[in-house]
Amino acid sequence: MNSAAYLQRRSEIQNYFDRTAVDAWRKLTSDAPVSGIRATVRAGRDRMRATLLNYLPQDLRGARILDAGCGTGALAVEAALRGADVVAVDLSPQLVDLARTRAPEDLGAGRITFLSGDMTAETHGDFDHIVAMDSLIHYSTADIVAMLERLSERTRHSILFTIAPRTPALAVMHAVGRMFPRGDRSPALSPVAPGALHRRIGESPDLSLWEVGRHQRIKSGFYQSMAHELVRA
Ligand SMILES: C[S@@+](CC[C@H](N)C(=O)[O-])C[C@H]1O[C@@H](n2cnc3c(N)ncnc32)[C@H](O)[C@@H]1O
Repeated sequence: MNSAAYLQRRSEIQNYFDRTAVDAWRKLTSDAPVSGIRATVRAGRDRMRATLLNYLPQDLRGARILDAGCGTGALAVEAALRGADVVAVDLSPQLVDLARTRAPEDLGAGRITFLSGDMTAETHGDFDHIVAMDSLIHYSTADIVAMLERLSERTRHSILFTIAPRTPALAVMHAVGRMFPRGDRSPALSPVAPGALHRRIGESPDLSLWEVGRHQRIKSGFYQSMAHELVRA
């Protein structure tokens, strides 16, 4: 799991989300007005969050959930308000601080423990469900499968995650993105072919007790992402 390629990628992502993009993420994930393109991204992300939350049982009292790559914490808050005991972890200490500040004091029966670090760390403990919304989209197919293998070791019921599905339009955006100076651009998305990912999950000995369940593509302007559920076979 801790291959040189993974560590290199993880460090680029951490730099980006903890330095370059903090203000953009603060704004995108708030109610502040945003321009047309960003508004479509915000709307798509709201639909994605609702879709993933809908894959979880309605009553989450007593359930332990990992919000893996929690960003500013919106999903963690909604899960906690349904009663879950949430561990919300992100590589970016700045985003974790923002998430902690934004979380309401009264979460009813739920609670959230905020941590900065790697989502795959064993020290986070065991979970009923893990949710990784748009936090695996910068990794290669091989790294995504390795991360799922690692997370599955301590998951009782389901792992929900998203991928950036490979489409001709995304391939063009990917190529255009490469024309910007390196310092100004986000770590490029790693578009993944859903069929190839499902095959590799099916072939992984470490995931032999798991299978891909529901999956759904969500597109809203410049936002395109595909929800997945990995469940015990
Ligand atoms: C696109 S943001 C999405 C944040 C949040 N899930 C949401 O949907 O608003 C991706 C987040 O994943 C985090 N991330 C990426 N790789 C991670 C890893 N290996 N461990 C923990 N966090 C990670 C990044 O720091 C970033 O905040």
